[in-house]
Amino acid sequence: MSKVLVCVAWPYANGVIHLGHMAGSILPPDIFSRYNRLLGNEVMMVGGSDQHGTPITVSAEKEGVSPEVIADRYHEINKKAIEDMEVEYSLFTKTHCDNHIEVVQDVFLKLLENGYLTTHESNQYYCPQCSKFLPDRYVEGICPECGAQKVRGDQCDACGKTFETGDLKDAYCVHCHSAPEIRPTEHYFLKLGDLNDRLLDYLAGKEWWRPNVRSFTTNWLKDGLHDRAITRDMEWGVPIPMEGWDSKVIYVWFDAVIGYLSASKEYSQIIGKPDYWKEFWMDPEVRHYYFLGKDNIPFHSIIWPSILMAYGGLTLPYDIPANEYLMYKGGKFSKSRGGAIDMPTVLSKYDPDIIRFYLSMVMPDTHDSEFSWEDFQTKVNTELVGNLGNYYHRCLSFTRKNFGSVPQSEGVSAEISKAIADAFSEYRSCMDGCDFKKAIKVVMELSHFGNRYFDSMKPWALVKTDKDACGKVLYDNLAVVKALAIMAWPFMPKASERIFSFMGLSDLEGCGYAAIDVAPVSGTELADPVPVFSKVEVPKEILDAEKGILDGKAEEPKKKEKKEMVTVSDGPFKDFRKLDIRVAQITSIEDHPDAEKLYLMKVDVGEERQIVAGLKAYYSKEEMLGRKVLCLYNLKPAKLRGQRSEGMLLAADDEEIGGSTVLLLKPSADVPNGTKMNCGMDSSESRIEYKDFTNAILKVGSFKDGKVNVGDVLDVDGDSLPERIAVVVEDGKAVPVSDGNGCYATVDREITDGANVR
Ligand code: MF3
Ligand code: ZN
Repeated sequence: MSKVLVCVAWPYANGVIHLGHMAGSILPPDIFSRYNRLLGNEVMMVGGSDQHGTPITVSAEKEGVSPEVIADRYHEINKKAIEDMEVEYSLFTKTHCDNHIEVVQDVFLKLLENGYLTTHESNQYYCPQCSKFLPDRYVEGICPECGAQKVRGDQCDACGKTFETGDLKDAYCVHCHSAPEIRPTEHYFLKLGDLNDRLLDYLAGKEWWRPNVRSFTTNWLKDGLHDRAITRDMEWGVPIPMEGWDSKVIYVWFDAVIGYLSASKEYSQIIGKPDYWKEFWMDPEVRHYYFLGKDNIPFHSIIWPSILMAYGGLTLPYDIPANEYLMYKGGKFSKSRGGAIDMPTVLSKYDPDIIRFYLSMVMPDTHDSEFSWEDFQTKVNTELVGNLGNYYHRCLSFTRKNFGSVPQSEGVSAEISKAIADAFSEYRSCMDGCDFKKAIKVVMELSHFGNRYFDSMKPWALVKTDKDACGKVLYDNLAVVKALAIMAWPFMPKASERIFSFMGLSDLEGCGYAAIDVAPVSGTELADPVPVFSKVEVPKEILDAEKGILDGKAEEPKKKEKKEMVTVSDGPFKDFRKLDIRVAQITSIEDHPDAEKLYLMKVDVGEERQIVAGLKAYYSKEEMLGRKVLCLYNLKPAKLRGQRSEGMLLAADDEEIGGSTVLLLKPSADVPNGTKMNCGMDSSESRIEYKDFTNAILKVGSFKDGKVNVGDVLDVDGDSLPERIAVVVEDGKAVPVSDGNGCYATVDREITDGANVR
């Protein structure tokens, strides 16, 4: 038995974590730590929310709240989503707390004492318009390395390059968009140059690191190691423990990586063994694994080892199995730039084991990989349900029905033992190398083998002719089922535990991998099994929207965009053109303090707006929060019962035509908040009255074969439209409300055709 430290990159608490975080850096360490636990190793798995730095302050300023509000809000949301995903940290903490601040300051002072810190003046961006320094994300510009636009001042999302002041081309201030000056300011620097040789020695031996980790690291070293500023001109962050440095704080990256150490100490306190962390950090035999996305590599392969060396006496990273990106619709998942599929929403629809299975199957370990809902549905239904779930269930239910308990047998047959042993040994070498995608495929292969074996032995026929022989076949199958449940546990813990209990066994984790070699005990009572996985059905509009975009890309997207633009701007549609409709997301919701029937909410339409709406009879607060909606953006603001309302949410209402349903409109694809739904044309007015809105005729109807039924059946342009669409109707023509690029206005349930949008 050995000890293993599993470190998980700390997601910024400036937004809700999404599938990209999960697949990239959060699920892999959980799989690895569960694997080690089944081996009998003692695992400490630490991480938390990264709550400092410009990612937090920029978001806070956008919302007009303090950084602490943002940092704590998303910490709580993300912590819960992580727990709901069955990811089991020893401790998931946060950086804005006394313990962490104390540990960071201790490291700072120790580095100073050891001579690895120095101060000098350096150049920083400064905005004369806003009269402030612009650290990191406060400037954006063009990446000098790869030419990507709108990249942030500290690092290019596209190519991973990290920047110094002055590197960006065409830099501008994110507040006022003016060009920044460069001004000198004094900072503390980490003397990386002094650690050069030791760092090279450390890196030289690491042949087992993934190629991407090695190449990112060597690229960084190419320019030589220079002193790096570890403080910033801002107020939010860990205070610098020195007199006269009140207007500056420690740089978020210097503070965050120290989190691995501070969290280990905090965990030790919590379990009442304050020195426990030393067993992990001061014993050079203990291996430290760091799981992260590729943009984090240099901070873990260079900066963090440097800090540890400068501090002295602490163990350096053993491996840094960094993942590439999980892509969606050809782009990177990203919460700050849209395109995100956030965990609370996904978890509200699908079982955690199912999400864990799919993310393991498409894990971006050596290459970027593509996520799609269509592939999700296919892999879950055919592989997980059709292969593994089916095998579990047919073995358990057939045996239970015909024998009631584990049948008699002299032991597992040689053929089956060998199949299990071979699979397990391949699985182990994959898991040891953090090759989780390959490991789960080994599990699925063993399940295929089991299914074929079951079929070939025809127990349903055998049970009638030779019940004893049938019992032996089932006994062998139960050995495979047990092995599968144990091997699948790091990936899908809950389902595995249920299978274990159907077999009359308990405490899977306590049994560990050793139990694979223990033959099933004849006579053990079996429980009535139920299928542990069920098929998923991704809503049609999500699949359609995905297809729309994917097809569009395959066949010249430009053309398609144009076609829709021409349709609309050629026609009159002058009333519709007055409307400015945008995609929005409800970020908070409460009861209107002075009106029983109204909600008061905040929505994100690219910027924050407050909206008052009378939807209480139709939607609960829970159903509203986080929902993507369409907002009439240029409606003149009004006060409703004393509360300002800056826009209107669009909903379909069939009351006038005899129904009683009200449904919020929503975008058919996951486009960024603020996306215009004006069919690809500019709106003609910047501010309108409510009566301008009612002049345009907007209706919702069902779409089929190139026509939409809005009471009348009208021709409509566009392919791969959702089943129900909102259209603008004028002169017997209907045009789907869209962003001009494959995202349509739709509703998520049935409503009478011809319902009015209001
Ligand atoms: N917050 C960083 C990000 O999301 C990751 C920090 S990892 C840590 O990119 F080690 F610094 F904590
Ligand atoms: Zn500015």
